[in-house]
Amino acid sequence: MQANYGLPQISLVRGVGVEVWDVQGNRYLDFLGGIATNILGHAHPEVVAAIHKQSQTLSHVSNLYSHPSGVLLAEKLQSFVGDQSARVFFCNSGAEANESAIKLSRLTGRKRIISTLGSFHGRTMGALSITGQESKRLAFKPLLRKIQYVPFDDLAAAKRAISKKISMFIVEPIQGENGVVVPKPGYLQGLRELTTKHGVLLAIDAVQTGMGRTGTWFGYENEKITPDVITLAKGLGGGLPLGAMIAIGDAASYFKPGSHGSTFGGNPISCASALAAISVLERDGLLKQCLEFEASLKREIGQINSVLEVRGAGLLLGIVLKENKAKDFAAKLQAAGVLVNAATESVIRIAPPLIVSPAQVSEFVQIFRKVATENGY
Ligand SMILES: Cc1ncc(COP(=O)(O)O)c(C=O)c1O
Repeated sequence: MQANYGLPQISLVRGVGVEVWDVQGNRYLDFLGGIATNILGHAHPEVVAAIHKQSQTLSHVSNLYSHPSGVLLAEKLQSFVGDQSARVFFCNSGAEANESAIKLSRLTGRKRIISTLGSFHGRTMGALSITGQESKRLAFKPLLRKIQYVPFDDLAAAKRAISKKISMFIVEPIQGENGVVVPKPGYLQGLRELTTKHGVLLAIDAVQTGMGRTGTWFGYENEKITPDVITLAKGLGGGLPLGAMIAIGDAASYFKPGSHGSTFGGNPISCASALAAISVLERDGLLKQCLEFEASLKREIGQINSVLEVRGAGLLLGIVLKENKAKDFAAKLQAAGVLVNAATESVIRIAPPLIVSPAQVSEFVQIFRKVATENGY
């Protein structure tokens, strides 16, 4: 394999729920969940059964035909948006969902897009163009032109930038890759007002915050807005590759036959897996439970000496350290049997499966505290 991911330190061979095992038989508590992707953990019996059943029934049909799992999932997502006009385009990943949003935005007749500094929207050329991190874009220029980056959580800057020349403003409800950065209440509402005033599409990148992880289906609902576009991936497929770009209102009719497509996007197996995952999330009240874990993790981890604050929502949390030692801390946690990642130099990100138990949350806190104390952090 190529060197783009660096050299992995462990090789994982098996997982059950929130636990995984490496090739040497060491057990880890998986508090990263495939970076916010394994929404129900590993090998969830209902997801496994749905995948099994679908793969025995119909596995791939191409996009020339519809299939029940795709239609049911689109209807489910429409109901979560709460707007009958919502229409879904299925793809395979977050980057593809954002590529689809970029193409949709071109159909407004305008060409300029605004994104936020520090944002992450994916690695393909279009998604990279709207990613607000120069370090990731630099080697791949020239990228898409007419993209402007404004400071995140800054309504005054957004106001100066938004005009009738802009096609779309894309923003994450919480900047995940940038270290779980949470905007002030009212930010998304303010963006909604500004974009509506100038006829600009408001796109919410819910790839990381979505599918219940932050306590609501997409992560923007507390702001009481309806965006024009929502992009999803990660947790959507219940662990299988699946992305979606949902367009709402007028934007829902921009794509015409031939505008866009994907061979594997919305394939029956990924959609069946997604439907099974959603039914467990709903039945077991996991969105609400997620908020209870948020409160206890913020309280308990927040008390540890080396921790400045714990920020984020639900089970997408950034543990901000007083010192820039997140990488080292994450490596020590891994050696102690806990998987997390260093989102930035000072922030450890946790995004465990939503089926995590109170006992596993306690075990995490205990190991975190022990590693912090033993290493004098
Ligand atoms: C907010 C956000 N958007 C888009 C992406 C890209 O998703 P993918 O890796 O599935 O292309 C990510 C991945 O981390 C993300 O966090």
